[in-house]
Amino acid sequence: MTTRVRLIELAPGGAADAEAVDRIMGAAFDPRYGEAWTRSQCIGILAMPGVWLTLARVDDVVVGFALVRAIMDEAELLLIAVDPAARRRGVGAALLRGVIAECDGRGVARLHLEVRANNPAVALYAAHGFVRAGVRRDYYRGTGGQTHDAHTYARDLRA
Ligand SMILES: CC(C)(COP(=O)(O)OP(=O)(O)OC[C@H]1O[C@@H](n2cnc3c(N)ncnc32)[C@H](O)[C@@H]1OP(=O)(O)O)[C@@H](O)C(=O)NCCC(=O)NCCS
Repeated sequence: MTTRVRLIELAPGGAADAEAVDRIMGAAFDPRYGEAWTRSQCIGILAMPGVWLTLARVDDVVVGFALVRAIMDEAELLLIAVDPAARRRGVGAALLRGVIAECDGRGVARLHLEVRANNPAVALYAAHGFVRAGVRRDYYRGTGGQTHDAHTYARDLRA
């Protein structure tokens, strides 16, 4: 029997990768929930200090990304997304581990994130030590004007 192991490569990205990010964004987020960002929102935030993009590639193709903003010793995971065709193969976990390692290197003490209530991504965050911190009622507005709560999570990186 032949077994093929596909390597997940993580690398920093930038505004030049906006097309790949846009492609993953469009495929990964369900428009019903209003979680996705526009291309110009992504490009705009990438120009801000303390913001970085990590790309995940398999066989040289971008299959996922994470976008993070750090201010002093606090950071926020703004977005993490994986192409539906590449899911449940460890790409999201690799990105999250990469983000945590980068935060460590930058002296970040606490990493925050917010996620739509009932988003299955919560299982990924819980598996990586994130603890629920609060709720933002009606934070996301999806198609048809329907709103969805956001839950905030955080993980201490110095614990
Ligand atoms: C969340 C997301 C990034 C996970 O990416 P992924 O590459 O499939 O994640 P992984 O394969 O690394 O999963 C690691 C673990 O997280 C958990 N997990 C991930 N997706 C899950 C799901 N849909 N349901 C339940 N558990 C899940 C599991 O414990 C999984 O381990 P397992 O496959 O061995 O059971 C991906 O589903 C995604 O892009 N979702 C849409 C975008 C989004 O909502 N992002 C979060 C808010 S910004």
